[in-house]
Parts: sequence; structure tokens; C-alpha cells
Amino acid sequence: MEPIANLDGKQMPLADVMIPALDRGFLFGDAVYEVLRIYQGRLWLVEDHWQRLARSLSAIRITGVDLDCLRRRVLDTIAAGPFLEATVYIQITRGVAPRTHTFPANATPLEFLYVKEFTDPYAEFRRSGASVITLPDIRWERCDIKSTNLLANILTVQAAKEAGCQEALLYLPDGTLTEGTHTSFFGVLNGALLTAPVSPAILPGITRGLILRLAHQAGIPVQEHVLKQDDLGQVSELFLTGTTSEILPITRVDGRPVGDGKPGVISRRLQAAYVDAVAEFVR
Ligand code: PDD
Repeated sequence: MEPIANLDGKQMPLADVMIPALDRGFLFGDAVYEVLRIYQGRLWLVEDHWQRLARSLSAIRITGVDLDCLRRRVLDTIAAGPFLEATVYIQITRGVAPRTHTFPANATPLEFLYVKEFTDPYAEFRRSGASVITLPDIRWERCDIKSTNLLANILTVQAAKEAGCQEALLYLPDGTLTEGTHTSFFGVLNGALLTAPVSPAILPGITRGLILRLAHQAGIPVQEHVLKQDDLGQVSELFLTGTTSEILPITRVDGRPVGDGKPGVISRRLQAAYVDAVAEFVR
């Protein structure tokens, strides 16, 4: 099925969407976005994504977006397919205005979304594990905003791909590991599950939040504490999380095996808990 879009309230095939050249999202990356997963036609973790979208809009001072109306548009677009296993991409820009860096006096935010069938590129990696490389985190100091300015992420993940890896783990000058270019990440050190605490250095991943809840329910000890590059030799497990990747065990980092080189026990337990949570949701 062809992807279906909605631009400022008007539904159309994605291929027919035209964005004005003076849109500030296009010119400056003056925009925020969300990606949600749809399981069996239903929006997964929608309240969490909506809260994060509201937070991103407020952080970059875009006002005048009716988020309830936007949600109805998303639901109408899903129903128009209808789409069962799919993703929705939502982008809100500061709008169209003559090009100057300061905010325009009276631009209307541009509200764009599309729903697309999900063909899972991660299935095999979820089973057998992914390879990652560590690379410097060259992003800015507000990575908590889900901004469409993704050039640093793109250049870094491209370098990872060219090194034969699926993702890069990003490190700060002091060796602190923050997250992946488009995923959050967790490690198991001395039996405890660790992930970076929420801060301006990471995106507060929606899947990350779910994994923390699932780990608590499963009685797995969790600490919101950063891992350092030096810890990578000691971790018994590492995994990535994200809306489309779900839980992706990492079996090689910088060419060396993680633990015994196979997806670890805690990663497997959490993957099973994730599948159960989705099954419960769509029931
Ligand atoms: N990426 N960290 C970064 C930098 C991300 O871009 C993402 C998501 C995540 C995981 O967040 P979540 O669990 O809410 O998907 C972490 C999206 C999916 C993307 O850019 O396509």
C-alpha cells in the first residue's frame, strides 16, 4: 500500500505532498518530529509520544499547534489505509516566512504527517545481534529535543555503516557514552542494567522508558547511570532500543564480542517482555 500523508489537515498520497521552499523546516531544520509504531492498526505508546512532542514544541517555542486535532488526523490517516503494521512520522515546522534567522512575526506552523507500512529491517539483528562502533558524539547540547537537525547523527551512522556496523555508540570527550545515533542504549554491568539518565545529552527515548518499566516488573535491577567507554570491556550485555528497532542485542562493539558474543539473558528476557506487552496491547 502507498503511504498516505496529511499536510495541514489535507489528506493525500505521500508522493503528492509539496512543501514550500521557504518553509523554515526545509531551510533551517527549524522543526521537531516524532516517529510512532502502529501495531495491528493501533498507536503504540501514544500518550508518551504526545507528551514528548509537546515538550519539543515548547522547547523550541513553536506555539499554536492543536495536538488533539493532530492526533485525530493521525487516526484518520491510519484508518484511510487501513494500516495494520506501520509507522507514523510527524513533523511540525515553524512555518513559511521570508528567510531570516530570527523567528517570523506571524508564521503558522506547518503540520505534516504520513503513515507507511512497516517492513521490518531489524528482524534478523533482533535474533542474532548487531555490531556497533564507538564514535565521538559531535551533536549539540540539547539532544533532549527531538529536532529534525540530524546532520551529526547522519554523518556518524554513515561512518558506522561504512565500518560494517548497524549503529554507532556516541561518546563525549570524557568517555561518557550517551546513546546511539537513532537509538537509546543499555548495558549490563555486574548484573545490573544501566542506561544514561535523562539529561540534555540524550533523547528521552519512549522505548527506553518502557524498558525501564518492564525491567522493574521483571525484578531486574536497574540504575539510570552512564556507562563509560572503559566499561565496555566489562559489560556482559549491551542492547539498543527504539520505536522501530524495539530491543536490539549488541553482540560486537568495536570489533570485539560482547560477553560470549551472543545476545544475553537479560536482553532476551526483556525482548520477551516487550513482545508480551505488545500482544497484551493489541488483544
Ligand atoms: N529515533 N535516540 C535518538 C537520537 C533517536 O533519534 C531515537 C529515535 C531514540 C529512540 O527513541 P524512541 O524509543 O522514542 O524511538 C533515541 C527515531 C525512531 C528516528 O529518528 O527515526
